Amino acid sequence: MDGNGRWARRRHLPRVAGHRAGVRAIRPVMEACDRAGVHILTLYAFSTENWSRPRHEVAALMQLFGETIDSEVDELDREGVQIRVLGERERLSDRLRDKVASAEERTSRNTRAVLNVAINYGGRGEIVAAVRELASRGMDLTQLDESMLSRALYTAGLPDPDLIIRTAGEMRISNFLLWQAAYAELFVTETLWPEFGETALTEALRSFSSRERKFGTVPEAVPQPLVDALHASRAG
Ligand code: IPE
Ligand code: MG
Repeated sequence: MDGNGRWARRRHLPRVAGHRAGVRAIRPVMEACDRAGVHILTLYAFSTENWSRPRHEVAALMQLFGETIDSEVDELDREGVQIRVLGERERLSDRLRDKVASAEERTSRNTRAVLNVAINYGGRGEIVAAVRELASRGMDLTQLDESMLSRALYTAGLPDPDLIIRTAGEMRISNFLLWQAAYAELFVTETLWPEFGETALTEALRSFSSRERKFGTVPEAVPQPLVDALHASRAG
């Protein structure tokens, strides 16, 4: 969800007003996802690197996360949305951590959709935390494989993302879902997050559906003899 600051600057508003506008953009996007049949949405709200922003901005964001959980959890629960927070929680305030835990617990049996919110999230940190967690359970790490590691990530039990949308034009992954994004399609739009809505989402989905996803293999359109030859040459 990038571009809140630029949105505010263009309006001569404080950055925090941009973050508030960013929160208001979430519900229409969730509803548009529901209509489009997208039932798992992950929002990158705050990265492990975002702590280095000015203290008042960090405080305002943390405040906003708490307020948003308070104001939205009832409706999300009624709608059957399961809320999951991805990220390292130790650094969050006790109050926010409690709100997160109770929102997760309350919505844990919901099955209509999953809303992941990444707060104090970093992809590298997530992988390190997962390996540490496995080690602390006494697992023999010489036997570690991809599925074990996947199951120790914050996204345990969820499929990998099909599409990653980055708003506000930056062509970077910025430590987002590094492991899970291995075969995700990327879509970068100039639209700033507070202005991202159903129109922009539809554009992203249309682009996604025109892609040919190969997952590292050869395209299906390639004649089978050629596929066999390619495999044979790789095997050799
Ligand atoms: C994204 O908007 C929101 C958070 C990282 C919390 P930015 O605050 O990064 O907006 P820009 O990049 O300054 O426009
Ligand atoms: Mg930014």
